[in-house]
Amino acid sequence: FSSYENIKVEKKEGRVALIELYRPKALNALCTPLINELNDATEKLDLDADVGAIVITGSEKAFAAGADIKEMQSKEYINAYTTNMFANWANLSKIQTPTIAAVNGFALGGGCELAMLCDIILAGEKAKFGQPEIKLGTIPGCGGTQRLIRAVGKSKAMELVLTGNMMSAQEAEAKGLVARIYPVEDLVDEALKMARQISSFSKPIVQMAKEAVNASYEMSLEEGCRFERRIFHSTFSTEDRLEGMTAFVEKRDPTFKHK
Ligand code: CAA
Repeated sequence: FSSYENIKVEKKEGRVALIELYRPKALNALCTPLINELNDATEKLDLDADVGAIVITGSEKAFAAGADIKEMQSKEYINAYTTNMFANWANLSKIQTPTIAAVNGFALGGGCELAMLCDIILAGEKAKFGQPEIKLGTIPGCGGTQRLIRAVGKSKAMELVLTGNMMSAQEAEAKGLVARIYPVEDLVDEALKMARQISSFSKPIVQMAKEAVNASYEMSLEEGCRFERRIFHSTFSTEDRLEGMTAFVEKRDPTFKHK
């Protein structure tokens, strides 16, 4: 991880990892090298037996101010199409380890989309979310028109996408985009605390829970509930399911084997 230039990666106690987006002069604009480093780091951490959850954060001023406009400025259609520009951003949403976005400051355009690729969004009380691409003569290109509507509903998503207006952390929490709000200086510690809580449970069971929740994006209610039930049944093949229920019955804390 030490060779990265646009992110900092640290493994912390309690089986969690912290990734800091680090392009301070560009408000963490998400250039191609940054996304490549982020994908490389998250893929490695996903396979790391010592990591049960990953926190992704930026600076107090900006989680990320979007895709790198300077990098895109002179691109032509043929290049955008043939390189399938931004397709690999979604790699982050495909890892099995839970991810928490800890958002302080601006999460705009690709920054908001990156946060939405994570499993949980926590926000500092001054965070601002938005999809301002319309002001640049373009539209969101990494799921903004699709994931935002699922989080905040059509009217609010349309407002953000068509006007470029920003949404406060408080509004984002009220609409369900954000799970919790914390004081700016406490945000990363609180995110790590939540990551440690998740990491304290059985790793395969956590991953199954994540997979089942994510399936709801793609399936009908009937199919989704059937998928959930089958995964639920499969938890009965694990020692950790037996341990969890036995510990409850015996009035003691469980010791999960698979972490
Ligand atoms: N790309 C490249 N550079 C960026 C950037 C971006 N998205 N956002 C900020 N920067 C750079 C600025 O150019 C500036 O660099 P210089 O000092 O070299 O001029 C530096 O970061 C600081 O920015 P500002 O001086 O603008 O800071 P501010 O406090 O006055 O304003 C801001 C902050 C409102 C976030 C403003 O920077 C801004 O509007 N940024 C662009 C936001 C945006 O449009 N994002 C969407 C990008 S498109 C996209 O993301 C497509 C997609 O769907 C994936």
